[in-house]
Amino acid sequence: MEENKIINGKEISNQILEEVKTETDVLRSSYNTIPGLAFIIVGENPASKVYVSSKAKACEKVGFYSVTESLPESTPESELLSLIDRFNNDDLIHGILVQLPLPKHIDEQKVIESIDYRKDVDGFHPQNIGRLVIGTDCFIPCTPYGITELLKRSSTETNGKNVVVLGRSNIVGKPIANLMVQKEFNSTVTICHSATKNLNEITSQADILIAAIGKAEFVKKDMIKEGCVIIDVGINRVKDETAKNGSRITGDVDYKDCFEKCSKITPVPGGVGPMTIAMLLKNTLKSAKNRLQ
Ligand code: GUN
Repeated sequence: MEENKIINGKEISNQILEEVKTETDVLRSSYNTIPGLAFIIVGENPASKVYVSSKAKACEKVGFYSVTESLPESTPESELLSLIDRFNNDDLIHGILVQLPLPKHIDEQKVIESIDYRKDVDGFHPQNIGRLVIGTDCFIPCTPYGITELLKRSSTETNGKNVVVLGRSNIVGKPIANLMVQKEFNSTVTICHSATKNLNEITSQADILIAAIGKAEFVKKDMIKEGCVIIDVGINRVKDETAKNGSRITGDVDYKDCFEKCSKITPVPGGVGPMTIAMLLKNTLKSAKNRLQ
């Protein structure tokens, strides 16, 4: 019974990876095409390194070609732009992912806009974000895309529901809010952020609460409505004396506190995280298929 409450992102992402692998096999055997993904990482951010290596491993699992370029922290912006230009013109590459955040001396938006939007499998280029808002074909940013797949594959009703998004980042908050308001999902959407007044009043109205603020265990049971669906996007490392390495990963939601009161919830880890990787591969596959047309 309680098991059914948990939206298992690990399991759902594995299903998607299987689907991607099956299609990749067809592309290879029938069209002599192998989806190729280029990763660029600048600097020594340990979390970024872990993310990129997980993404590269996933590529291998489904039979993609991938290449990782690790550049030093001091890399000039111009050099990064040249590398992107090289990948923009490389026919073996269908997707380019520049891991964020970038060092302070590099203009992140300029870098994003230098990626050919047809290879922008992160879905961060204005061309893709613009199309997302309009509701036409585009690359959907991987985490929001993963959230919509979790909702679909857990048979969560979104039509006419109140969706409250905590956080307004370009990577998660803004795109997921714009997706949920599209006809396909038909939700009524509220975006909350650091200046939002009466936050608990708003979150208590949510049928679906999407937490993406990067604050460990911020959402407590007094903030939520009985029977709501909780999507926890947070990945926060917190001290834990009882853990092997003295720390553990936790979400933006106090899972234990909210578990009884909600109807469904995504765990951390094993919820949204693995979906982000699966959708990246799905976007790269889409890019490779687009090229064949
Ligand atoms: N940093 C945190 N999330 C992401 C993501 O989805 N893509 C990239 N490129 N960087 C990130």
